[in-house]
Amino acid sequence: PRVLVVGGGQNAEHEVSRASATAVAAALREHYRVSQLTIRRDGVWCDDSGPLAPGVARSLSVAVSRIGDVDVVFPAVHGVLGEDGTLAALCALAGTTLVGSSLGAGAVGMDKWVTKVVAEAIGVRTAPGRIIHARDIAAITFERPVVVKPVASGSSYGVTLAEDAAGLAEALRVAANFDSRILVEEPIHAREVDVAVLRDADGACWVAPALEIHASGVFDTDTKYDGSARFSVPADLTEREQSALQRDALRIFDALGCAGVARVDFFLTAEGPVLNEINTLPGLSPASQVPRMFAAAGVSYAELTARLVRAALA
Ligand code: DAL
Ligand code: MG
Repeated sequence: PRVLVVGGGQNAEHEVSRASATAVAAALREHYRVSQLTIRRDGVWCDDSGPLAPGVARSLSVAVSRIGDVDVVFPAVHGVLGEDGTLAALCALAGTTLVGSSLGAGAVGMDKWVTKVVAEAIGVRTAPGRIIHARDIAAITFERPVVVKPVASGSSYGVTLAEDAAGLAEALRVAANFDSRILVEEPIHAREVDVAVLRDADGACWVAPALEIHASGVFDTDTKYDGSARFSVPADLTEREQSALQRDALRIFDALGCAGVARVDFFLTAEGPVLNEINTLPGLSPASQVPRMFAAAGVSYAELTARLVRAALA
């Protein structure tokens, strides 16, 4: 089969998406005919020789014909205008199979507010929080420490723990740079544990060993990529904790109708798991959490990516 890997993208996670795409393409070359396209930060689609055509719309129309020429697209574009269902929609319109979640799951997973509403509806706990509009931030007053997040962002871009009034004003301003909708949540001080779920070619879901994040302080954008965070996988969990995490991860994966692999991030409190968020296209560089979790179960990076392609083509 011919596989087209798409990377890059038009958001803050551009470089992360390039790293994921490069690694995925290299691994898939062992078994498939692989081509690659990169979406530049300005939206122009490029291949190895540069822009496919001058300007965003023209390069996109060439990209659509390339999408039509392959058997499956592997969209390695994290964040908005990629993971949020945009690329899934493009492939659906072009009639080409895609690795991973379709439009609906991508869009809901990218929206931290809607994810929270869905999670609560199916009995998966989340941090108490409320949504505010960027135009209203001047009216928000500080009462207690809160976590401020853009509703749609990734890699913790725009996320701040606000501990006083000045911090809150700044946190709201920063979040508003990423999205007009802002989530203000109660901070959860607990262990952070990630769970990866993969839907295989036979439709069955497979859960990788959980991974615990040991960051000094907040696991923010810097600690995500400066190499300072340590991970332990398999995480040291009781059987009870493990089964609660698995149950909640599978519930949210199913409720959203995810496909491919998703990473479901939790806080592990004394009362059980609290969902932080779901990533329908989690980081896939070999140093990212998901490949580490599969490696802990003896599934190599090449096998993980091939399994995702087989599931898409099934
Ligand atoms: N959003 C980043 C890529 C992650 O989930 O790993
Ligand atoms: Mg995320």
